[in-house]
Amino acid sequence: MGLGLGLVRRAGGMTENHFHTPFGDYRLQRLPARRRELLRAWDAADEYLLHHLAEQGLPSVGDRALLLNDSFGALATALHSCPLWSASDSLLAHEATRLNYQANGLAPENLRLLTSLEMPRKTPDLVIIKVPKTLALLEYQLHRLRPLLTPDTRILAAGMMKALPGAAWKKLESLLGPVQTFPGRKKAKLMEIRFDPGLAAPPNPWPTRYQLEGTPYHIINHANVFSREKLDIGTRFFLQHLPTGRGRETLLDLGCGNGVLALMALHHNPEAVVHCVDESFMAVASARATLKDALGPEVNAHFHVAHDLTGFSDQSVDRVLCNPPFHQQQVVGDHIARQMFRDARRVLRHGGELWVVGNRHLGYHKTLKRLFGNATLVASNRKFVILCATRA
Ligand SMILES: C[S@@+](CC[C@H](N)C(=O)[O-])C[C@H]1O[C@@H](n2cnc3c(N)ncnc32)[C@H](O)[C@@H]1O
Repeated sequence: MGLGLGLVRRAGGMTENHFHTPFGDYRLQRLPARRRELLRAWDAADEYLLHHLAEQGLPSVGDRALLLNDSFGALATALHSCPLWSASDSLLAHEATRLNYQANGLAPENLRLLTSLEMPRKTPDLVIIKVPKTLALLEYQLHRLRPLLTPDTRILAAGMMKALPGAAWKKLESLLGPVQTFPGRKKAKLMEIRFDPGLAAPPNPWPTRYQLEGTPYHIINHANVFSREKLDIGTRFFLQHLPTGRGRETLLDLGCGNGVLALMALHHNPEAVVHCVDESFMAVASARATLKDALGPEVNAHFHVAHDLTGFSDQSVDRVLCNPPFHQQQVVGDHIARQMFRDARRVLRHGGELWVVGNRHLGYHKTLKRLFGNATLVASNRKFVILCATRA
């Protein structure tokens, strides 16, 4: 049965996801995989970009293309026949790209996946920017792009109107050069930018730092990290109630962002070993920089870019601290939080604890009770609760 938006429902409630493009038809999947997924692995901005490229006869034979922020590899899959770099801040985006290549029988030789902190060494002929919802990430990427560009580099940027940061157009113009805007199509916006090498651009401000109130420590923030300008109010509340002084224990900061929870957990318990885990390359780089800057290069901490805890053995951790995300890209929901709680339960030793901060209305106590059989209220205020679930 056709559902519109490229979704095709098969018998049994599963969803097939066919991406029809001028460069071929592909079957695409999002990650993390969910049963009865109803969301597509691409959006109308991807379609707009690909149609525009095809109309323009791009990429030309042999063109090297650089993709920025391709969510699940939709653009990389469609453009697989040209040499591609694809840079993203999300490990899930990298894995979805690999998975979609494999599922469509595409050879990965032409594709180089780059983290958000990397750029190609050579000049690309074509740059395709999916404008991220975080303006700071776009700003950082444009700064990093500038030295690679020539006036001949074709630069396209696109995004869904509702997700485009208001000042994206201005950033493109002030850091790259004149922007030509095309008429909106299916609520997507497309722009072409002409690089002006004579433009006097300000210095790249990222990463930035702020002092953590009441401490001598600085929190270091790459452009795409959560709460990069100041302490999040939920995190602040969590910091006031962190478990303290428990001797040699293994702690996990799950969804570590800039590492502020790990830092203060180590501050309270210098005998602990901390693992910082996040699926964002910039988050893990920020956490590493924050902890090493605050506690020295020998700090008892390990850093993992990961979107689950498959790298950790069962029952290997004493305590997990978690301020879970409530959205993945544009999609709001608690599916990532639930996966984090399940993973935490598996890696916790018997008697180990998962400490969670969350908005009251998210109802995490119910999820934790279901999974752990218990959930104790550690503290609450008008907006947040801190819960502790013990692994039986
Ligand atoms: C609400 S922020 C908390 C950041 C930090 N702990 C704090 O309190 O400031 C949630 C973090 O979870 C990360 N995240 C999202 N999905 C994830 C996943 N599947 N695995 C690990 N981390 C994830 C995000 O990148 C983000 O840094």
